[in-house]
Amino acid sequence: MAELHVIEHPLIYHRLAVIRDKNTGFRDFREAVSEISLMLCYEAARDLPLRRLHVETPVSPAEVSMIDCDVTLVPILRAGLGMLEGALRLIPSARVGHIGLFRDEQTLEPVDYYRKMPENVSKSRVLLLDPMLATGGSASAAISSIKRCGCESIRLLCVIAAPEGAERLRSEHPDVDIYAAALDKRLNERGYIVPGLGDAGDRIFGTVQ
Ligand code: PRP
Ligand code: URA
Repeated sequence: MAELHVIEHPLIYHRLAVIRDKNTGFRDFREAVSEISLMLCYEAARDLPLRRLHVETPVSPAEVSMIDCDVTLVPILRAGLGMLEGALRLIPSARVGHIGLFRDEQTLEPVDYYRKMPENVSKSRVLLLDPMLATGGSASAAISSIKRCGCESIRLLCVIAAPEGAERLRSEHPDVDIYAAALDKRLNERGYIVPGLGDAGDRIFGTVQ
């Protein structure tokens, strides 16, 4: 059964305070989302496989470990792009796929418009990036799309999750763990997370004032 990991840390709480504030401008918003993403990535990468090897320090031989797997980061366009830089700072060797989805404001159903995944991705560890897990429709559709490439190891990193979205993923994709910075109370009648932070894409890209 999928697990929801809500990462509890003062450095995350501080940045959540910044991004929840409606008076925060897009520059500070973007920076805080990127830093939260880095911390989520740190947690989600905790059990990456390692290989042992020997190096020579200036003092003596030493046994060390290095990451021994292919990692693919997949931002859901457009807001997921705001998480990519932070994740890439931790895993610079990762490949990057893109999935384009937006949520129809009336039906709240995801509408997909783009998919470009790396070649031979089936054995890769996929970290799916989207700041908001609201109804879960977008994340669920993205996961189904990634699974069609044969991927078996998928984790979702989101900044804020709603209980409705987490429950939907648990039932539709019980093999996908979620790493979130916060689990909020509920969705409102327009499908926005309460208290949430508003429209993540608009706030990252400055498309509303
Ligand atoms: C937002 C968000 C998720 C989706 C979450 O994207 O980034 O992809 O909504 O909602 P759901 O869980 O109910 O599907 P949006 O549709 O606003 O597109 P954008 O990233 O292009 O702004
Ligand atoms: N998408 C957002 O950007 N924010 C929400 O609260 C819900 C969906």
